[in-house]
Amino acid sequence: MGSWSTALVLLLVGVTVVYTTPLVNEKQPGQEWPKRGAVLQPSDDKDTETEPETIFEEKSEEEAILDEIPVKTIEDSSEPVKEKQDLDNTDNEVDTIKTKTVVIKSETASPKVDYSGAQLWKVSIEKEGSRNILVRLRRRNQIATWGTNGTAIDVFIKSDSIQNVTRALNKENIPFEVVIEDLQKRIDEENPPLDENEAELQDRRGHRMNWKQYHRLEDIDGFLDYLSKTYPATVSVNAIGKSHEGRELKVLRISNGNPSNKAIFIDGGIHAREWISPATVTYIINQFAENFDGESEDIRKLDWYFLPVMNPDGYEYTHLNDRLWRKNRRPGIAGRGCSGVDLNRNFGYRWGGKGTSSSPCSEIYRGPRAFSEPESRAVYEFFEKSAANYVAYVTYHSYGQYILYPWGYENAVPPDHDDLQSVGDKMASVIQSTGGDYYSVGSSSKLLYPAAGGSDDWAKSQGIKYTYTIELNDKGRYGFVLPTTYIENVAKESLAALRVLAAQVNKE
Ligand SMILES: *[C@@H]1O[C@H](CO)[C@@H](O)[C@H](O)[C@H]1NC(C)=O
Ligand SMILES: *[C@@H]1O[C@H](CO)[C@@H](O)[C@H](O)[C@H]1NC(C)=O
Ligand SMILES: [Zn+2]
Repeated sequence: MGSWSTALVLLLVGVTVVYTTPLVNEKQPGQEWPKRGAVLQPSDDKDTETEPETIFEEKSEEEAILDEIPVKTIEDSSEPVKEKQDLDNTDNEVDTIKTKTVVIKSETASPKVDYSGAQLWKVSIEKEGSRNILVRLRRRNQIATWGTNGTAIDVFIKSDSIQNVTRALNKENIPFEVVIEDLQKRIDEENPPLDENEAELQDRRGHRMNWKQYHRLEDIDGFLDYLSKTYPATVSVNAIGKSHEGRELKVLRISNGNPSNKAIFIDGGIHAREWISPATVTYIINQFAENFDGESEDIRKLDWYFLPVMNPDGYEYTHLNDRLWRKNRRPGIAGRGCSGVDLNRNFGYRWGGKGTSSSPCSEIYRGPRAFSEPESRAVYEFFEKSAANYVAYVTYHSYGQYILYPWGYENAVPPDHDDLQSVGDKMASVIQSTGGDYYSVGSSSKLLYPAAGGSDDWAKSQGIKYTYTIELNDKGRYGFVLPTTYIENVAKESLAALRVLAAQVNKE
C-alpha cells in the first residue's frame, strides 16, 4: 500500500474509533464514583495522605546504583537485547495519526522482533559462584534472566549467544537444561487465531472478548464499554488518564451503589509481556459483571475497581512489535536511545531504591522521578481523588506462581504481616484445591528480591491493608509465552482466591 492509502486507512480507523467510543462518563443517577468532598465515604475520616517527602522525589544519579540487580530475580533483570534497541527508531512517528482521543499506530511501521533460535534454559544456581557467572554473562548482554524457583534461574539466550553461553556454563560445570528450543516457534503457536464460527459468535454477542485467546487492547476496551452499556445499574467505566501514546486507561467499576461499601482495586498488565494478567483480570470482571445479582453476598457488598491494562502502549507493542517487551513506551531522549520505563519501579513509595535502575536501557528503569509516567501518575491521581474505602489492592503479574505482600523495597514486612500471610495462605490453598497449581506465599523482598517503586508498596503505604502482587502461571515451562489453553484454568484459580480475599475484608 502506498503511503497515502495507508494514511487514509489509518485516518478512517482513527475516526471510527473516536466515533464509536461511548461517553463513558455518563452515569446513571446515584452511580457517580465517590470523589473526595463529593460523596462522603467512610475513608474520608481516614488519613490517607501521601508522604510528601517520598512522592515525586528526585534521587541523585549517584544514588542510582544497582544497574546489576541481584541475580535472584523472577522476571526483572533482563538487560535489553540488541534487537529491542534497534526498534527504537523514529519512523514510527511518521505513521502516527493523532485523533482527539486515540493514537493509532501503523501496524507495519516497525519490523517485528524475530526470536528465531532464541532459547529458554533452566540454569542451576545451587553451585557456589554460578550466580556470578550469570551476572557476568548478563552484563555482557549474552543472556537475560526471567524467573527463578530458588534453585534454578530461567535464562533467555539469543540465538547468536548460545555457543558462548554453553561454553561458559560447561567450563564451570554448571548444570542447565534447555526448556524452549526456539522461542519464536512458541510465540507463533501461543495465540492461534479463532476459527470463523467463533468470530461470528463474538460479533453477535456484542463484544469480542473470550478467554480462549489473548486479545488486542481494542477488544478489551470494547468489552468494558459493552458491560457498562449492558449493566448500567452496576457497571460503569471511566478513563482515568492516558498513556504516553494517547491510549485511554480504562477503569471499570462494579458496585451496587451503597455508599458505605468497602472497595477493592485490581490492576493488570503493568508489564506488557505478561499477557495472562489482563486475561485474568478481564475474566474476573466478566464473572462479576455478567452475573452480579447471582453473585455471593461477599462480592455484591463490595465496590470493585478494575484497571485491566495499566500499560496499554506496551501491551499493544508486544502484540505488534516485540512479544517480550516489558516496559511502557516512553520515548528515548530526542527520539533516540532506549525507550520505556518499568512502571512497577515508578511508583512513589521509596522510589529509586534497591532493584531499580537509572539507566533508560535497563528493563528495570525506574524513570526520571517517581510517578514520572502518565500511566502510574494516573493511578496516583485516581486514588488521590477517589473517596472509595479501599481495603485491598491486588496487582496481577506473571510468572512464577507467587502470592506476594509488601514490602518490596527492602527485606522488611509491615506490622500486620501475619494477617497478610495467613490470608495469602488461604488463597494459595483454595487455588490448589481449585486447579491444582501450587503458589508460594511470602513478602516479595524475601521470597524474591528487593525491588522499590512497585505499585504494591505504594498501595500499602496509602493504608490499604490487603495488598498483594500475584505472580500467575507458570513456573517457567513457557514463562511469559503461556499458551492460551492455560487461560481459563489460571483465571478460575485467581477468581477463587479473590473470593477468599473478599470474604476476609467483609469480616473485618
Ligand atoms: C527448580 O527447577 C529445577 C529445574 O526444573 C528443579 O530441578 C528444582 O527441583 C526446582 N526447585 C524447586 C525449589 O522447586
Ligand atoms: C562470544 O564471545 C566472544 C569472546 O568473548 C566475543 O568476542 C563474541 O562477541 C561473543 N559472541 C556474541 C554473539 O556475543
Ligand atoms: Zn510483572
